[in-house]
Amino acid sequence: MNKKSVKDVDVKGKRVFVRCDFNVPMQDGVITSDKRITGALPTIEYLLGQGAKVILCSHMGKPHNIFTPGYGLTKKEKKKVAALPEAEQAAATEAFMAKAAGDQKKLTLKPVADRLNEYLGGKVTFATDIIGEDAKAKVAALKEGEAVLLENVRFDAREEKNGEDFAKALASYADIFVNDAFGTAHRAHASTEGITHFIPAVCGLLIDKEITFMGGALENPQHPFVAILGGAKVSDKIGVITNLIDKVDTIIIGGGMAYTFIAAQGGHIGHSLCEEDKFELALSLLAKAKEKGVKFLLPLDNKCAREYDNDSESCYCSAGEIPEGFMGLDIGPETIKCFTEAIKGAKTVIWNGPMGVSEFSNYAAGTRAVAQAVADSGALSIVGGGDSTAAIEALGFADKISHISTGGGASLEFLEGKVLPGIAALQDK
Ligand code: 3PG
Repeated sequence: MNKKSVKDVDVKGKRVFVRCDFNVPMQDGVITSDKRITGALPTIEYLLGQGAKVILCSHMGKPHNIFTPGYGLTKKEKKKVAALPEAEQAAATEAFMAKAAGDQKKLTLKPVADRLNEYLGGKVTFATDIIGEDAKAKVAALKEGEAVLLENVRFDAREEKNGEDFAKALASYADIFVNDAFGTAHRAHASTEGITHFIPAVCGLLIDKEITFMGGALENPQHPFVAILGGAKVSDKIGVITNLIDKVDTIIIGGGMAYTFIAAQGGHIGHSLCEEDKFELALSLLAKAKEKGVKFLLPLDNKCAREYDNDSESCYCSAGEIPEGFMGLDIGPETIKCFTEAIKGAKTVIWNGPMGVSEFSNYAAGTRAVAQAVADSGALSIVGGGDSTAAIEALGFADKISHISTGGGASLEFLEGKVLPGIAALQDK
């Protein structure tokens, strides 16, 4: 992928619309991880340094869109209202709208503007709407080297519908569009794809970095190339396994999805997670790996629990011999040895998904051991997914990883080899 970046175009003194992914985790109005904000800083700092007038835009969560003309209650709410006696319907509608307005307030980007200002020394103003009076006035007042952050772009339903008039209104703010929202690049929305039809569109430095690392690993990896995939469901990772099987030397499977592979081969998995409807697929992936000479490593043993509970009665057992009444919640010590040995010799590693229920302290050992092995491997390492990234960060290994992706769903789709509309729409070099 050879896309023009913000450094390939003249931005001096220009009005530049930058789509970021500031969809950061929040608790009670406080940002709990600002990785996605710091990830966007190189592009923003570059533009401000070039004297550009910067219009920042992002979504946060999945708001209710109640403020968009023509949008109101959800289908479910409408149904509930319709089931009430006519005399009660107006009050019920009002109550739903009030609740939605309250929920929506929690998804404001104001805390993000405040955090940006901590990093950028107060150069960012915050607009309380998107294409309303406040935003228009603040964009018009921008001086060179200043930025404005628009309110949550998903507060307008036309964003997710990729509405043409809405995309045009966003484009009218600027001379150039820069997409730096890698985490949202798999969405064809007005501020990621629609806008590219109206003004020249290039990628930001974060997207450029994501493409360079992940695209480079997929297109031209150094061997041995090891992919480590975990997480609950085979169905979430089918596309990734299928795409990677043609490129890697070893696939390591951990987490809940491993039990489907083990059960498909006749193993006993107690009441571990299992997708019986994926047995055939699991067997075909194993056969494909064998045919291609790809090592397909599954757990050899597991740490199991009676209940899905950190403190429930536990035991260790061989994979495929989990007793009835128990479920596998982590890989066991033999597996850790086998997996870490395979990672040790790698020159390229891609890791996405935990090896067990890593949020339970008693079942986090497998994920931690893999994090340690990836960090120690000296390989070009790319980590994606919330739990794998959290394990790397909790152990203080972030600086030993070549690239930690800021994309969740977007990274997976990239690894599946899919075209991401927010990237495909950008100008080629
Ligand atoms: C993410 O957190 O994965 C991105 O911000 C995309 O969010 P979405 O799944 O709500 O589109």
